[in-house]
Amino acid sequence: MLGHLCEQLGWPFHVIDINQAYIDLTKTVLDRVGDRSAPIFFAGTLKEFAQAHRLDYRINTILIDANHDYEFVRKDIQSIYSLNRRPHFAAFHDYSLRSSNPAHGNIRVDRAIHDSWGARLPLERIGIQFGPDPAPSRQRPSPSGSYWEANGSEAVMIALADVGLPADLGLLRRLRIMANWRDKVASR
Ligand SMILES: C[S@@+](CC[C@H](N)C(=O)[O-])C[C@H]1O[C@@H](n2cnc3c(N)ncnc32)[C@H](O)[C@@H]1O
Repeated sequence: MLGHLCEQLGWPFHVIDINQAYIDLTKTVLDRVGDRSAPIFFAGTLKEFAQAHRLDYRINTILIDANHDYEFVRKDIQSIYSLNRRPHFAAFHDYSLRSSNPAHGNIRVDRAIHDSWGARLPLERIGIQFGPDPAPSRQRPSPSGSYWEANGSEAVMIALADVGLPADLGLLRRLRIMANWRDKVASR
């Protein structure tokens, strides 16, 4: 669906995944449903994508839906700032996802976002909105142990112009990003 939207708008649609097998599966599925959006696939992490590309356009929305472990989400947020141009929006899937299964690690997309950009950052809740008794819930998790936090949100969207640089970026990196992105925004 995102591919179709990009195709209609004439925007490039990049798909990034560390697992080549999932990329191949996605290509097969898109072929089978007759998708014509022609995504640009990249096998690797977002950081590797940023290192490998000099984009001459700003990405409209970067949708992060990869490893939901707290530390990985924080790294993905940092990697957004490795892109040579600032995307307009960042969206995060599974914002209020949790798991009681230790094998899933520390699934906390929401905490990673708030620890990076601040507790009260402006964000738009998107996707399914959960009430006080979601399904699956903490009390009745899925067979694998995952569940939704009460009153949570499936996903969120953040306007990157509305938030500061993540708290865990070093000073030199912050200065370099500010100079780079200011120039690029001015000359776009
Ligand atoms: C929850 S699935 C989401 C897949 C896709 N967004 C979808 O809705 O079908 C997570 C995907 O992220 C990939 N992944 C995990 N860690 C990653 C990372 N550090 N960088 C890029 N992709 C990653 C996995 O291989 C897997 O395909």
